[in-house]
Amino acid sequence: NADHLTGITTTGTPHLGNYVGAIRPAIESSREANRQCYYFLADYHAIIKCQDPARIRQSALEVAATWIALGLDTDTSIFYRQTDIPEIPELTWILTCMTAKGLMNRAHAYKAAVADNEAAGRKDLDKEITMGLFSYPILMAADILMFNARKVPVGRDQIQHLEMTRDIAGRFNHQFGEHFILPEAVVDETTAVLAGLDGRKMSKSYNNTIPLFETEKKLRKLIMKIKTNSLAPEEPKDPETCTLFAIYKAFATREETAAMAARYREGIGWGTMKQELFEYLNEVLKGPREMYNELIKSPGDIDAVLKKGAIRAREYSVPMLDKIKKAIGIQAL
Ligand code: TYM
Repeated sequence: NADHLTGITTTGTPHLGNYVGAIRPAIESSREANRQCYYFLADYHAIIKCQDPARIRQSALEVAATWIALGLDTDTSIFYRQTDIPEIPELTWILTCMTAKGLMNRAHAYKAAVADNEAAGRKDLDKEITMGLFSYPILMAADILMFNARKVPVGRDQIQHLEMTRDIAGRFNHQFGEHFILPEAVVDETTAVLAGLDGRKMSKSYNNTIPLFETEKKLRKLIMKIKTNSLAPEEPKDPETCTLFAIYKAFATREETAAMAARYREGIGWGTMKQELFEYLNEVLKGPREMYNELIKSPGDIDAVLKKGAIRAREYSVPMLDKIKKAIGIQAL
């Protein structure tokens, strides 16, 4: 089974938040001996939010190249595309039939969509909300339960989905026997929510992201755009409420972070801080960026890696689904 498992939705270009919240902890954990890791591109999840085929395809390529450029060893870890595992949508349907609608009513993403309709004064509060969005957490539960994953490295925004997965698994086990392991979210509290350009959570939906592998020039430009307050250079500043500091902290060592916090309290100019943050990030990302730019030129090679991963993943998912089907009475007569 999977010791660690996590996925990234293929709707955009991977950003610093994805890296510190999920990709970095996942790759670090995959380097531990005797640990089987399953990492994947959530492309069935992607079509919930995005119905632009070219964009989805490009994003899948970018997300896959990102993982590899950042050092994922695709021989030891199992790296695949969700849509190459047909057992996942099959399991999703089975779980859909066993999941209370009330549980899904409580999902943050669905509630936010309803709240948006309410705020816009629409009569139909479900306007433009698809069944895909509504039952999104069940597909995610299937991703995790399919491989009996124990730990799931994610950012804080995914915790509710993990709770729902445990709920769904517990209910299934109660009725049909102990088939599923109840998974745990692994959240690194220092980087659980990385802020974006405007200080809100860095997110594709807020359009405030810093993509991981922008050119040096673009990276500098984005960092210069990060919102700060209007304190003068020599005035003491609070590191804890500053987006620049939060991003620095997510990358720097503990000692470097402490030293930077001291400089904030003494007074540091925003221009200086932005320049230093740029230099720090650029140093970290330079090597992976070069590799990424090479990888992205050979989609065929990336595809071969993913196909190989899917074959390995299905060694687990095919017998697992078989077992689940037997447990509920769907089997050859
Ligand atoms: P997605 O694609 O929105 O994000 C991928 C991962 O990045 C984390 N993340 C962040 N972490 C810290 N700070 C941020 N600003 C930030 N933005 C994003 C997310 O928490 C996530 O861990 N539903 C998932 C994909 C998924 C999945 C799964 C994950 C599908 N099936 C099974 C784990 C297990 C999602 O949309 O993530």
